[in-house]
Amino acid sequence: EMGLVTLDPGYGNTGSTTSKITFIDGEKGILRYRGIPIEELAEKSSFPETAYLLINGHLPTHTELDDFASELSNQAMIHEDMKRIIDACPATVHPMAILGSMCLALSSFYPNSININNKEEIDHTITLILAKMPTIAAFCYKKLLGQPYVYPNSRLSYAENLLQMMLARPSEPFVVDPDAARALDLMLILHADHEQNCSTSTVRLVGSAETNLFATIASGICALWGPLHGGANEAVVKMLQRIHEEGGDVEKYVAKAKDKSSNVRLMGFGHRVYKNFDPRARIIKASCDRVLSKMKKGDALLDIAKRLEEVALADEYFVERRLYPNVDFYSGVIYRALGIPTNMFTVMFAMGRLPGWIAHWKEMLETPGRRIGRPRQIYTGPAKRRYLPVSER
Ligand code: SDX
Repeated sequence: EMGLVTLDPGYGNTGSTTSKITFIDGEKGILRYRGIPIEELAEKSSFPETAYLLINGHLPTHTELDDFASELSNQAMIHEDMKRIIDACPATVHPMAILGSMCLALSSFYPNSININNKEEIDHTITLILAKMPTIAAFCYKKLLGQPYVYPNSRLSYAENLLQMMLARPSEPFVVDPDAARALDLMLILHADHEQNCSTSTVRLVGSAETNLFATIASGICALWGPLHGGANEAVVKMLQRIHEEGGDVEKYVAKAKDKSSNVRLMGFGHRVYKNFDPRARIIKASCDRVLSKMKKGDALLDIAKRLEEVALADEYFVERRLYPNVDFYSGVIYRALGIPTNMFTVMFAMGRLPGWIAHWKEMLETPGRRIGRPRQIYTGPAKRRYLPVSER
């Protein structure tokens, strides 16, 4: 079971038609990172450990994980001038716009290397962006709120740090809820990689031009922002809120989503690859109840989501087209329970996907005979014709 490889001639010249990172079987709902089933990683791993696995191809030893995690803590601060740039953004700027631009800015503030033969340089470049993205993301959120920034705390884990930088306020004591940190760690693991999806393919293509890693990640952020891709989690919650505000008539909404003229889609439903179920959606749905009860919270949107799934999966339109809940359908419910606002959901998706993007960038650079991505086309335009002076047009 080496995994099916779809060979795309147009894409092949970036050395990306094969990959050793993630295996997906869309028919059987199988997802494995470096051969390890997502269900096992969700239950037993941590996000830093999963990130190490994706990037280096093997689970870290105790020492390797300790060194990796402490490096991520030590490098979490960002240059004060980067904070001033975030400060200068109007509060109306979407956090994904700030996140992408600050990734580009990283290359002006920090050394980075694409010399794949120098392991130390590559590892340092990778650690820098993995360590600093949560701080940038949290600063984006504080900017939105008009609240003071909260700096990283090297005594906290990756997920704990992200939560405290987003949710703590200098005016009052703040203790990270361990259940919230575990839930966030799980969400990051589930989003960590997903083979050649739109944003990862973008990263591989942009990186193939030997663009630096920070700018390459910025291109992945731009692709992920699309509502048909990573932006879907934000769109799902807006859809659930609209149904709730309109009285919770799920059947009416499902009918609209079937009507092509309505231009309405059931956001969080369907997938290019999974045609029976998205294993990540199953894990997230199962943890929704657990997270909400542990955090002593309820969420009317979860009940609507469950009813929406029930009605859609009983409807032949969705069953015939093999449309099932994907990773985005329930993820917003958990983020809301953690106190994360809708316009930060896609930022959280980017936080999770970061190690996957990095792993694919590294694999592409390591591919022997790799050349710049240059897909070809089939020309369907007009045959050769002469230029017409404007008087004859
Ligand atoms: C992610 O690639 C990845 O791995 C992505 C991702 C990752 O981890 O990186 O998994 C993350 O992007 C998940 C997908 C998030 N997007 C959404 O939830 C947006 C809603 N979903 C759809 O837009 C759609 O399902 C896609 C884009 C996800 C997949 O589209 P497909 O498989 O190409 O399906 P299609 O567009 O060819 O549609 C097939 C039929 C069409 O109807 P007919 O023309 O055959 O009559 O299904 C219909 C579509 O109209 N359809 C939907 C629908 N999705 C497809 N109808 C209503 N609601 C939907 N959500």
